[in-house]
Amino acid sequence: MKIDVVLGLQFGDEGKGKVCHSLLEKNDYTHVIRFNGGGNAGHTIWHKGKKFVTHLIPSGVFYGKKSIIGSGCVININKFFNELQYLKNENINVEGLVYIAKNTHIVTENHIIEDSLDSKIGTTRSGNGPAYRDKYIRSGFRAEDFSELKPYLIDLYEEFYEKNPDSVILAEGAQATGLDIDWGDYPYVTSSHCGIGSVLLNGFNHKNIRNVYGIIKAYDTYVGLKNFQPEDPIFEAIQIAGNEFGSTTGRKRQCNWLDWDMVTKAIKMNGVNRLIINKIDILRQVDAWRIRSNNDLITFCSESDFCDFIREKCEKMWLNSIFSDTPHEI
Ligand code: IMP
Ligand code: MG
Repeated sequence: MKIDVVLGLQFGDEGKGKVCHSLLEKNDYTHVIRFNGGGNAGHTIWHKGKKFVTHLIPSGVFYGKKSIIGSGCVININKFFNELQYLKNENINVEGLVYIAKNTHIVTENHIIEDSLDSKIGTTRSGNGPAYRDKYIRSGFRAEDFSELKPYLIDLYEEFYEKNPDSVILAEGAQATGLDIDWGDYPYVTSSHCGIGSVLLNGFNHKNIRNVYGIIKAYDTYVGLKNFQPEDPIFEAIQIAGNEFGSTTGRKRQCNWLDWDMVTKAIKMNGVNRLIINKIDILRQVDAWRIRSNNDLITFCSESDFCDFIREKCEKMWLNSIFSDTPHEI
């Protein structure tokens, strides 16, 4: 068994969906598994020139791969069936490809109502927090409790250790280090673990992890109620150039310069061996190249100086860095 992991190192919306799509095109994966989060995520994928936004179903379906919602996730049954229908309507073949770990917890309508009353964190109102709370106070419901989910249920142990021990798996993360329940800026975080540990929580073995792709974009964005964007019109320009509006809620994403200290921490803690830096073209459009590092703000004269800074830092940590524009594949 081999597992490649894709995870976010900022506050979500780094372009993980795009990277997964691109990795699927170039590698022979047998399975794709989402390992955390739920309908709060929004993965934007361009497939054959067309834009898709998915929230729950992993991107494996675009390439005919088994796509599993893992036990570390939480799902709302209506949203799941709506998303299946959306993909079918768009002529994406989902037949026999979409599975839910039988021990995945369920987001109920009451969880969504409760979450929609949030005025403290600025949640996506998807019911995630209340669903994870109920999982941990042991009053939740699991996928296996619902007969309508029966055709989709899968036992992760059976699938990977008994039936297909030679699987090559792409593990797709949602959200990111800055939103991680333990390592993010609590309480302005999501309710799941977004790091490498979360992959293992789905029953995987650390020895089988092959590559860990850490995904960032050239600047930071954050959606939620804490103050994040400094007063400077440049950030509005970045927001517009980068179309920084939430794919789940449509809210404006607050912008700031790339926080390299946070990225370094996330690289180390997650064992990232490949760093992918998306949306370089957005900074090119506004022609401003800055990075926060060592509690300082560094200004670069050019794109190449900006990229060299990151490349050199990565080389010192023995990892590859790959720079990418918005519309292109890696
Ligand atoms: P929740 O996950 O809906 O409870 O929201 C908690 C915080 O995480 C809020 O600040 C959300 O905006 C943020 N959040 C959750 N999921 C995502 C995501 O996929 N992208 C960006 N921000 C997210
Ligand atoms: Mg997103």
